[in-house]
Amino acid sequence: MSSVKIELRKDQVEKIHAFCDQCGNEPGELINILHRTQEEFGYLPAEIQEVIADKLALPVAKVYGVVTFYSFFTMIPKGEFPISICTGTACYVRGAEKVLSEFKKLLDIQVGETSADGKFSLSCLRCVGACGLAPVVLVGDKTYGRIAPDDVKEILEEAGGARTRGQGD
Ligand code: FES
Repeated sequence: MSSVKIELRKDQVEKIHAFCDQCGNEPGELINILHRTQEEFGYLPAEIQEVIADKLALPVAKVYGVVTFYSFFTMIPKGEFPISICTGTACYVRGAEKVLSEFKKLLDIQVGETSADGKFSLSCLRCVGACGLAPVVLVGDKTYGRIAPDDVKEILEEAGGARTRGQGD
């Protein structure tokens, strides 16, 4: 589990309780509740899982098991600039894998991780419906098309003035 302890505010706990109440505090609605909570908070750290477990009268281990089983749930906060690489068929065929490798290399993180400065996080997506622009990369709400590995450095610099590996640090 995440080693960074966070303190939930009272209004945040109330919000999570409200999601549970709206779902009748039904353990069978756990996935639904986790979805809504992640939409609100961006991720599901241990402290949030404990609040949900408590409200639904479930063991924390059960909630943790569900969060870690499904890849769409994350316990890591997203970066200020979340980067998503489309790995749908069209993008894959046109080299998405190499583009992804370049992001991993320059940011020194893996998929599902956030850079140490909290700026960038990396994830993969299935087809985002822009196959004509393959390979496609999303940075926040910005879409970049026909990306080659050579473009990655520039994208990072444009997005957040990233201090990437190999920039003389
Ligand atoms: S496969 Fe990437 S946009 Fe369709």
